Amino acid sequence: MPDTIATGLTASEIHELKNFGGRLTALGVNFAVCDFEGRPLLLCKTGAFETDPARLAKIAHDCLKHPDKKDKPQDDSSAVSRYISSVLVPLTGEKKQTGIAVVIDLGNTLDMNNQQQSHLLTELLRFFVEKFTAGRKSIEQMDMISSELAQTYEELVLLYKISTNMEIVEPDANFLQMACDSLTEIVGVEGITILQEKTVDDKSRFILVAGAGVIDIDDRTTLLLHSRLQEELNKGKEVLLDSDFDGSFKYEWPKNIHNIIVVPLTSKVKTHPSQDTGYKQPLTARVIGMLVAINRLDKPDFDSTDAKLFTSVASECAVFVENNRLFGDLKELFIGSLKALTRSIDAKDRYTRGHSERVGFISKWIAEHLAEEEGLDQEQIQKIYLAGLLHDIGKIGIDEKLLCKTGRLTAKEKNRLRMHPSIGANILSGIRQMRDIIPGVLNHHERVDGKGYPAGLKGNQIPLMGKIVGLADCFDAMTSERVYRDTMSVDKAIAEIENRLGTQFDEKIATVFLKSDILHLWDLMQEGAVKTYGTDDFTQYGSAAIGTLIT
Ligand SMILES: [Fe+2]
Repeated sequence: MPDTIATGLTASEIHELKNFGGRLTALGVNFAVCDFEGRPLLLCKTGAFETDPARLAKIAHDCLKHPDKKDKPQDDSSAVSRYISSVLVPLTGEKKQTGIAVVIDLGNTLDMNNQQQSHLLTELLRFFVEKFTAGRKSIEQMDMISSELAQTYEELVLLYKISTNMEIVEPDANFLQMACDSLTEIVGVEGITILQEKTVDDKSRFILVAGAGVIDIDDRTTLLLHSRLQEELNKGKEVLLDSDFDGSFKYEWPKNIHNIIVVPLTSKVKTHPSQDTGYKQPLTARVIGMLVAINRLDKPDFDSTDAKLFTSVASECAVFVENNRLFGDLKELFIGSLKALTRSIDAKDRYTRGHSERVGFISKWIAEHLAEEEGLDQEQIQKIYLAGLLHDIGKIGIDEKLLCKTGRLTAKEKNRLRMHPSIGANILSGIRQMRDIIPGVLNHHERVDGKGYPAGLKGNQIPLMGKIVGLADCFDAMTSERVYRDTMSVDKAIAEIENRLGTQFDEKIATVFLKSDILHLWDLMQEGAVKTYGTDDFTQYGSAAIGTLIT
């Protein structure tokens, strides 16, 4: 039997055909199966006569070309043989028909005039074909159901994976990239991307933030995508689907695009109060991003199942982006409130203006230089920065007159002033998220020789955070104009710290600080610490630091 039998028939179907063919030979006829081109796939012979291959191919070909003639004996007065043929079953799954023909060659061994014999064989073939077709259809249906179940399962796994990765400490781009990668694992596309609305130079634009595969979207295409998607949404559609598969495109696309799906990432936004009534308008949906995929690989076009899956994924992405934005707003509000609070405390004394923010900045500097030696990660450094920012928050409970007093302090006044670390720690202890920074606030006036306050802790009894903030506090105090002395130069402050190694300051920490580029730190502080020595805006650093407390 030729190898071409493999054209879409299963092993059990081939076995069934062989069995049927074998039984027919007992009736003295030859049985053949031919492919769509008329090539023989299977031939069961009685041995009583030869089947002419060319004749067989023509019969099979005619049968497949004119299926209405099936099951009918082929009349051919010039031939010694007569044939009964039928289309066995069109093999579905592809657009081109790939059915096969079954042919009974009656040869010349049967009585040509015995219509009854011919009729019986025709009926036999018809029953076989019906049975075979029914079997094939049920297998196909089972395959289809099984494939749909597998697809649904994969889609559910994908949506579960996406929803369980919704940790808002993740940057948007990481999450959106994960969504793209996950989608391409179960949907064959040439390229996929997510464009997110961002503000660039005070203008709102859609920027490519994640993608997989091959997809090239320039600024012009981005604008087109947005306007066309909006046009479809205005018509009540949920997605933009366009393809040249069943006809021409609705819109004009770059030549490399044969089919495309664009799904919106939408956010519910408040509109401005009505000018007439002053009442707030209902929330409206706004496109904050677009999920775009081009050129379906294992299907001719994107279909409604794809649209449903893409819409679900886009919806999850939009929720993530929106939550991240709200979380960002919350962090900015929080750090803004903390800075406002510390500024109001610093403002009690004109000599300490900006002191808290500078101490936060210097604490961060020291922590970063100590990171390797002390095994500090970014989260710990951020907490040290916040402890520096809030180190004097307890001064809120100290009389302004005392904070601004120019003369010598009495013992009672000194004791009162020395309560500010404990007051600060008490204030923060009421806020669960702030507890990690209390050691920096409570211990920033401790000294390694035990002569500090409030507890008089010595050496390693003082938490690292307290030592760092204490050093940062002193450096800023030394280099800032104070009520009791003029600004000390940076060199003098460095010399003063060297003098106090092992008494006021922890030797290891202060040495690391002294070895750092303090003049550069000083320059940065003169710029108001607006920029860090990296590329991040310092305001964003504060928000990120707050994020570590909230999550
Ligand atoms: Fe202090």
